Order: sequence, then structure tokens, then C-alpha cells
Amino acid sequence: MITGAGRGIGRVVAETLAAEGAELILTARTESQLLETAKIIDGYGIKSHVVVSDLADEQSINVLIEYVKSHVSQLDILVNNAGVTHSGSINETATASWDHCMAVNARAPFILCRELLTPLKKSKAGYIINIASVVGVKGYAKQTAYTASKHALRGMSMALAEELRDSNIRVHVICPGGVETEMVTQVRPDIPTDELIQPEEIAELIMYLVTHQGNAVVDELHIRRKSSNPWF
Ligand SMILES: NC(=O)c1ccc[n+]([C@@H]2O[C@H](COP(=O)([O-])OP(=O)(O)OC[C@H]3O[C@@H](n4cnc5c(N)ncnc54)[C@H](OP(=O)(O)O)[C@@H]3O)[C@@H](O)[C@H]2O)c1
Repeated sequence: MITGAGRGIGRVVAETLAAEGAELILTARTESQLLETAKIIDGYGIKSHVVVSDLADEQSINVLIEYVKSHVSQLDILVNNAGVTHSGSINETATASWDHCMAVNARAPFILCRELLTPLKKSKAGYIINIASVVGVKGYAKQTAYTASKHALRGMSMALAEELRDSNIRVHVICPGGVETEMVTQVRPDIPTDELIQPEEIAELIMYLVTHQGNAVVDELHIRRKSSNPWF
């Protein structure tokens, strides 16, 4: 299952997993974009389920959870990719904007991990991949709410990885810098397009995480643009 599968990173991850034969559950708010992703997946001869859900709304998340539980016997991969950002100084950040970032970026992945543990435990090897951000590790001015939500997602993931250490489920976090999607053009219009990471590069890393069979476990991946400072 991939959240935020209607465009950007989520759509490319969906296509990459479909190319390897994965049956997919695609979710986001905008049905037309999800159907467009489903059409791409169709091209690989792969079945996909489109479920419209607003991850800011717990009732709507519950509809999604019920759909998953009643349509699939096991879940192998949960990619918590859906995300929203907010740009503005602290004085320009309303409490509602803070709450929205926290709800979509941190609370929704928490609820989905909690409620989908049972189908994930039925998998031979279950994977939870949480898409945080470079702002889950450091802080940028004018991104207090977004930064706090990604730190929260990363923290939740660390605790859950420890909690599930002896289970069949691995929890991974990916922290990308600027990726060429609609989101980055809103938040960082200053970055030249040809310097941005491609969504395909994030999808390749996810493929590695979900296919690697050895004893090594990669807890967290930090991915930066070639032109940015090393380590961040
Ligand atoms: N692009 C970057 O530079 C970058 C860097 C680091 C991390 N990230 C993270 O990567 C993830 C994907 O970002 P992206 O760049 O691909 O962004 P994007 O192009 O804006 O796509 C975001 C996806 O999330 C969905 N979404 C947003 N709000 C939602 C809600 N309330 N309920 C359900 N789905 C919702 C959107 O669909 P609807 O609007 O239709 O709901 C869309 O499918 C995000 O978590 C983002 O924070 C991005």
C-alpha cells in the first residue's frame, strides 16, 4: 500500500513496485490522480485498488483500514509517503497549519502502522517505509510545522523499529532532500530543477529495501542533492 500515490514520489514508487509484480493499494484524496496512477499500473498487467482517503481525518483513515482488512489477506509493504508542507515564519503559521502537518505527516502513519500490524504480520517479510525528509533531521527557517512533523515521524519510526525488532517486520525511514515534484516547486522554488533528485531515485532505494534478503538492515537513508552540503 502506498499513501499519496496520486502524484509525485508516490506515483513513481507505485509504478516501480508494479513493474516488479506487486499488487497495489493506492490512496490519496484526489480520485482523478489515483485513477491516473492506476492506469499506469494497469499497463504492467497488475491489479490495483484505488481508495480515496483524507489522512487528516481519522474517520476517513478508518475507512481505508477497513478496506485493506476486508480486501487483502496480508500486507507486505506499507509506504507512508503522503505528506503536506507549510511554509512561513512562526508568526505566519496558524495552529491549524501546525495541526494539519502533524495530522497528515505524523499521526496518520502512526495510525496506519498500528492498525495494519495484523495484515503486515501475516507477510513472510513485512516492510514499513516511512518517507520523512531532510527536515526530519535538521531544521530550515520558515518550516517549523513541517520540520516538527517529520521529526515526529522519524521518532515514531525509531521506537517502532525497536518494538518490532524480533518480528517479521522491518521499519525503514527515508529522508530525502529536494525531489522534483509539485511539492518542491512550492517550498523550494529557488533550487534549480536540474539539481533536484528524481522520484525514480527514491523508488530505486525502496526497491532495494524491500528486496534485500541478507542480515544487514538499513534503518535510515539520508539522500541529498549532489549540490547540497555533505551529510545533509
Ligand atoms: N518533494 C520533495 O522535495 C520532498 C523532500 C523530502 C520529503 N518529501 C516527502 O515525500 C512525500 C511525497 O512528497 P511529494 O514531493 O511526492 O509531494 P506531492 O507531489 O505533493 O504528493 C503528495 C501526495 O500526498 C497526498 N496527500 C496530501 N495530503 C493528503 C491527505 N490529507 N490525505 C491523503 N493524501 C494526502 C497527495 O494527494 P492529495 O492531495 O490528492 O490528497 C499526493 O498524492 C511527502 O511525505 C513529502 O513530505 C518530499
